Amino acid sequence: MAHINENHLKLPGNYLFAEIAKRVNAYKSEHSDAKVIRLGIGDVTRPLAQVTIDAMHKAVDDMAHVETFKGYPEYEGYDFLIQKIIEVDYLKRGIKIGTDEVFVSDGAKSDTANIQELFGLDNLIAVTDPVYPVYVDSNVMAGRTGEYGTDGKWSKVVYMPCTAENNFVPALPKAKVDMIYLCFPNNPTGMTISKTELKKWVDYATENKSIILFDSAYEAYIHEDGVPHSIYEIEGAKEVAIEFRSFSKTAGFTGTRCAYCVIPKELNAYTATGEAHSLNRLWYRRQATKFNGVSYIVQRGAEAVYSEEGQKQIRETIEYYMTNARIIREGLVKLGLKVFGGVNAPYIWLKTPDGMGSWEFFNKLLNEANIVGTPGVGFGPSGEGYFRLTAFGSRESTEEAVERFGSRLNI
Ligand code: MLT
Repeated sequence: MAHINENHLKLPGNYLFAEIAKRVNAYKSEHSDAKVIRLGIGDVTRPLAQVTIDAMHKAVDDMAHVETFKGYPEYEGYDFLIQKIIEVDYLKRGIKIGTDEVFVSDGAKSDTANIQELFGLDNLIAVTDPVYPVYVDSNVMAGRTGEYGTDGKWSKVVYMPCTAENNFVPALPKAKVDMIYLCFPNNPTGMTISKTELKKWVDYATENKSIILFDSAYEAYIHEDGVPHSIYEIEGAKEVAIEFRSFSKTAGFTGTRCAYCVIPKELNAYTATGEAHSLNRLWYRRQATKFNGVSYIVQRGAEAVYSEEGQKQIRETIEYYMTNARIIREGLVKLGLKVFGGVNAPYIWLKTPDGMGSWEFFNKLLNEANIVGTPGVGFGPSGEGYFRLTAFGSRESTEEAVERFGSRLNI
């Protein structure tokens, strides 16, 4: 008899965005005339940069000739892309990363979900609350999180509340934790962390031999000076942190799929007897076994983003989304709502009006204004009473959404 991994049975309900899609589809089937505006999942809507399209066309042609044809890609990514990542994303910020410290993949979602495989099941994980659900759910599937309580918390997860009261910056955990998930600029709150605050985390991890799993998928959206783009801007971070980056939001690759993570060679985790092992080598071994790399065509498309023209083109798209963010932010503030984020990130995090619950507001918004957003509580218990909107819609639908907030909702 085949037995299942019973940890999967512990997961409450659907994956957040699948649940939202299900509810929206149910609504649409009953209201076929409704013009629904989707500002829920953070999926991009603008086309790929022209440089990427051209590079991908050329790469398709390469595949048509025996001299330039490519079979299996390198497990860790093609050197042409890794060199550009190192040069543009890191060296330009004064950070030195080795070519064998970058691992190209098909997404930061899969990387942040898979990375926990390198760690023992007895590790205590800490997450910000609210949090991108993938970090927690992937640990639930592995069996690291204990039991799910009626308070919406897992018994073996340390939750670090991020609310308006602490300006959405988590306090260091009181308990000693082993794996720490941080995402800045933050999904879902759209808020950032200062270098001084981030340094406290690096120091904590150094002291406790913990590992920080730092998701900086939204760094390209940073507009304010002094906000760290990479955790490696902090001294000592290479000994304690893995960084995840993605082309999804930076260059419109949500459908094309390309990302990478950086695992410095000096980063170690330990056996039960205290023997140090390089996570870089363990990840290489894991990827070579379970992953056959990102296609040549996609990696050529990603490489093109790093040309001067590519950087200009992706910036234009990022500015388009950030204008949407400003329109949402300013529009909702005018209506008297309390709004956060949207300055260094494409997410707007708002306090629901009249103390409404997150799902209650989701239903109101869908029913009365035909707008889809994401209930804050779906990201964790401290998200209750908050709501997330994305800036990734078209200009037209973003403006219309703001107009509907004013005209259709009685708030
Ligand atoms: C989100 O809406 O939070 C993101 O689109 C999810 C993701 O990047 O997987």
